[in-house]
Amino acid sequence: MDALQERIALVSGAGRGIGRAIALRLAQEGATLVVTDIDEAAALGTAAQIRAAGGTAEGCRADVGDPAQSAAMIDFACERFGRLDVLVNNAGVVRVQPLLEVRPEDWDFVNDVNARGLFFAVQAGARRMRAQAPHRPGAPRGKIINIASIAGRSGRPMFAAYAASKAAAISITQSAAGALAPEITVNAICPGVVETEMWRTIDQEWTQHDGRQPGAAWQDRLKAIPLGRPEAPEDLTGMAAFLAGAGSDYITGQSYHVDGGVLMN
Ligand SMILES: NC(=O)c1ccc[n+]([C@@H]2O[C@H](COP(=O)([O-])OP(=O)(O)OC[C@H]3O[C@@H](n4cnc5c(N)ncnc54)[C@H](O)[C@@H]3O)[C@@H](O)[C@H]2O)c1
Repeated sequence: MDALQERIALVSGAGRGIGRAIALRLAQEGATLVVTDIDEAAALGTAAQIRAAGGTAEGCRADVGDPAQSAAMIDFACERFGRLDVLVNNAGVVRVQPLLEVRPEDWDFVNDVNARGLFFAVQAGARRMRAQAPHRPGAPRGKIINIASIAGRSGRPMFAAYAASKAAAISITQSAAGALAPEITVNAICPGVVETEMWRTIDQEWTQHDGRQPGAAWQDRLKAIPLGRPEAPEDLTGMAAFLAGAGSDYITGQSYHVDGGVLMN
């Protein structure tokens, strides 16, 4: 597979989970990868995994909660590989708690990464993408893919700050798509109930709060999935590869549910 040959892609929060699966898939499709994460060892581990499979990748630490570090990770990609074609803003955090117990620091913890951090990463990526030539005349100069969530589509009593941050990610996607057209496409993916460390945290915090058995929150959510199984990080990679490639050149401002049918519209 070489649909993304000569494309340079950066995935944030790619040390594990959904970000790692997307980075591995884009590399399989021929892209050169820059893997970033707040956990440097994890970022370097994913980059090493890509190289071991025959791909090209470098890793670096970047906390996307800090706009200066987001700008630095974009600079790192451009210095190493000359340009940035695809930016996947995947890094995210969650906190589970009843609405009346959300403290300002909980709100900031989640929104500093998922909303504010994502906004400034989009801005930093777009500044570099705008300044580069497209691969062929008329094609976008770059593609930005934001990882939002189905939680951004409606309120969540136990994840109010998180749901707000993901609604912001969808809104930022639309604003940026309008502002950056026609040079850059900006789209989002809304995952559903994905088997990653994040959901292990959600289950732990939720069941502790309710006094339920560990695993009960996860099992409850699985019942709402029409396709009848939990989502794997790999289930998101086909959409990510599509949005990174030429097949989506005429698509911008969209947020796609990849959730086994939990939300239908
Ligand atoms: N797991 C799900 O069910 C689910 C559902 C919908 C959306 N999402 C979204 O998908 C994305 C990935 O989630 P996941 O399930 O793989 O989570 P995860 O917790 O397994 O992985 C998240 C990664 O992001 C990194 N990270 C956290 N804060 C960071 C920061 N400030 N800067 C850089 N990296 C940081 C972590 O170190 C980790 O490697 C997130 O944006 C999440 O909100 C997940």
